[in-house]
Amino acid sequence: MSDSEGQKTLLLTGASRGIGHATVKRFSAAGWRVLTCSRQAFDPRCPWPGGEDNHIQVDLGDPNNTVEAIEIVKSKINGRLDALVNNAGISPKSDDGGRLNTLETDLRTWGKVFHVNFFASVVLARGLKDELSAAKGAVVNVTSIAGARVHPFAGAAYSTSKAALAALTREMAHDFGPLGVRVNAIAPGEVETSILSPGTEKIVETLPLRRLGQPSEVADVIYFLCSDQSSYVTGTEIEVNAGQHV
Ligand SMILES: NC(=O)c1ccc[n+]([C@@H]2O[C@H](COP(=O)([O-])OP(=O)(O)OC[C@H]3O[C@@H](n4cnc5c(N)ncnc54)[C@H](OP(=O)(O)O)[C@@H]3O)[C@@H](O)[C@H]2O)c1
Repeated sequence: MSDSEGQKTLLLTGASRGIGHATVKRFSAAGWRVLTCSRQAFDPRCPWPGGEDNHIQVDLGDPNNTVEAIEIVKSKINGRLDALVNNAGISPKSDDGGRLNTLETDLRTWGKVFHVNFFASVVLARGLKDELSAAKGAVVNVTSIAGARVHPFAGAAYSTSKAALAALTREMAHDFGPLGVRVNAIAPGEVETSILSPGTEKIVETLPLRRLGQPSEVADVIYFLCSDQSSYVTGTEIEVNAGQHV
């Protein structure tokens, strides 16, 4: 247990919508304190206790801002962090909403995607390694099915950033394991959030389970990987996709 009251603490990026929002609710319901990160200021409509005090407004696409956020996080925790969930992600499209492929994606866009989807994850984990180690904590990186195959809507920058994040999970599991920190990934398929593109219903018709995922179903798997139920699991990537990968 993390502090004198025995409450565990999670740092979660991309908490303001979608999978992140469901993840705050899942951990809060289990009694965790959740520190949230996103570009938006805290929204008072969010239904969890202590939300404003526990929110850090940060642009993870800006490396300096990300490093500054680490100091803010440290000032809010007592030298111990039970879990870090790197969930924030962006998936830019062309002006007409189309897929940005390897021929069309400009380098500035590609770099921005990598800062948010990839570099922020390792910068935060490294910056908080002592706190994660003190709590024998867990890191979960949110990858994607698009990291393993060409996807009809996810662009090349997004997909390569998620493939890199899967590889990073392996590397981090190797390096953080001796510190007592487990590092895993979850790879969602088609989950009902604002990141989905029109036409997703055609993909869903082909899935073994024939339905979209709900953010809460992804949050449950993230919770499992941060809980003692997965104490001997590290360096793995769990598919959360209704069998889309088979
Ligand atoms: N939904 C799916 O079907 C699906 C499938 C595969 C993988 N995923 C992955 O799951 C994760 C969550 O996806 P989602 O569908 O829940 O996405 P979403 O609804 O678009 O939410 C993305 C979150 O990331 C935050 N964010 C974006 N850019 C940021 C930045 N520069 N700095 C800080 N925070 C930033 C957003 O908050 P602000 O706008 O307030 O900054 C928001 O909270 C992502 O990594 C995504 O790639 C989703």
